[in-house]
Amino acid sequence: MSMGHNTAGPLLAGRALVKAHGRTEALRGASVELRAGEILAVTGASGSGKSTLVHCLSGIVRPDAGSVTYAGERLEELPEKRLSELRRTEFGVVFQFGQLIPELTALDNVALPLMLAGTGRAEARAAAGEWLERFGVRGQAESRPGELSGGQAQRAALARALVTGPRVVFADEPTGALDSLASEQVMSALVHTAREAGTAVLLITHDAQVAAYADREVQLRDGAVASLEVTA
Ligand SMILES: Nc1ncnc2c1ncn2[C@@H]1O[C@H](COP(=O)(O)OP(=O)(O)OP(=O)(O)O)[C@@H](O)[C@H]1O
Ligand SMILES: [Mg+2]
Repeated sequence: MSMGHNTAGPLLAGRALVKAHGRTEALRGASVELRAGEILAVTGASGSGKSTLVHCLSGIVRPDAGSVTYAGERLEELPEKRLSELRRTEFGVVFQFGQLIPELTALDNVALPLMLAGTGRAEARAAAGEWLERFGVRGQAESRPGELSGGQAQRAALARALVTGPRVVFADEPTGALDSLASEQVMSALVHTAREAGTAVLLITHDAQVAAYADREVQLRDGAVASLEVTA
């Protein structure tokens, strides 16, 4: 599956990443490694480059300089077709802001990645319902995103990121719109699922309590890694 990837090394590695948005240097040489099955928290002040880092690592945005290696493949060298295939089959992404398709119900939003991968509609919808259940939003299955609260939408987005069984989940502030009880429930479900399936998770958060669920924490400061600390 991992095509010659040496399992001793990191599954995903961003090295010396540089990315500017216009004149703003969002990333200035950030390097991050994620091992298979590892839960890594990325913390840092607002504007420190966390979301930009996720966009580069998940192959959504090409960095201006530096490299991203996933299971032995350099993302910057891949043709667009292979890159989108990787993103569809190996990665699950929860974005910080609006991402569910507004015309589809929560259930169909979660079923969609499976259907794109060739699963039949009934089977995809059944699996989607189970994922909504895990994240405590099965009751909202028939609601459209515009009818969901921010926290409900994030839970549906997490269900959608996990439904295909990716090897890496990128979750940008997945509990940002949740109160502490709901946040704890969502984090428990996410961590439990990841541990069970051996999924690696790159978790962006402002919240020290959320970061405490991770195996390790990396802090970004002004677009570079400020410190590494073992949290568990
Ligand atoms: N599309 C964009 N156009 C212009 N500047 C941008 C864009 N996206 C991000 N930036 C800038 O790049 C820097 C890093 O942004 P980024 O979104 O990566 O930070 P962040 O750490 O995710 O912040 P937050 O915690 O607020 O989500 C910020 O100064 C931001 O203003
Ligand atoms: Mg952000």
